[in-house]
Amino acid sequence: MSARRFILLGPPGAGKGTQSQRLVADLGIPQISTGDLLRAARKAGTSLGQKAQSFMDAGQLVPDALIFELVEERLAQPDAAAGYILDGFPRNVTQADEMVGRRIAVERVVLLDVPTDALVARLSGRRVCGQCGATYHADTFPTRLEGVCDACGGAVAQRKDDRAEVVAQRLEVYAKETSPLIAYYASAGTLRRVDGFESADTVYASILTALSA
Ligand code: AP5
Repeated sequence: MSARRFILLGPPGAGKGTQSQRLVADLGIPQISTGDLLRAARKAGTSLGQKAQSFMDAGQLVPDALIFELVEERLAQPDAAAGYILDGFPRNVTQADEMVGRRIAVERVVLLDVPTDALVARLSGRRVCGQCGATYHADTFPTRLEGVCDACGGAVAQRKDDRAEVVAQRLEVYAKETSPLIAYYASAGTLRRVDGFESADTVYASILTALSA
């Protein structure tokens, strides 16, 4: 049987969001992306969103306490009872340890492996719909009409933290804070590696295999 409570782990731009959208549609479980939850909190102008803002714009991790507040609230919603895709969470070993203490179950961790130069190209070209969250790429997956979402007609723009200097910082933070999770979950026996430097369709097929293997 396939895992239904799992983490998509990988550096910024590895394709976690892209693949989550497909998994949500096929598996019928929600994507819980801490990045998306933080952006929604910012858009709504909540005090948590305001506290997170400066960290996100600088490419730094948001304090763990704020992240758990968001995640616990989201996991308590009924649609998460039958499973969930954790995207961008946990982000460091402290968060992973705290998940165990809070009994947030994880059956499988799928690591998307992508070379760093490809990550930079993906992130610098990424464009996101401010209305429905659909993701595009200026060169490899453009919208039909420039700046207009194919799916909902919303405005499509570059994320503030996809500017070159912030991307470099996010990659550094990943290497220092997040990549130790690879050894952490490998030693727990839950880690599966997927080559994320393939077409989105091929990556998707590999993820499905990793969830059932
Ligand atoms: P977050 O939103 O989680 O950003 P991230 O992890 O940096 O990941 P991205 O969303 O940038 O990349 P992705 O892997 O989803 O790639 P995508 O599918 O879009 O976090 C943002 C910030 O929030 C953090 O910096 C931090 O401040 C804070 N934060 C979030 N969670 C936190 C936590 N737990 N603790 C503390 N702070 C936290 O793809 C990228 C591009 O590549 C797209 O254009 C796409 O079209 C293209 N692409 C995708 N797949 C392929 C493919 N196979 N081939 C070619 N192109 C592809």
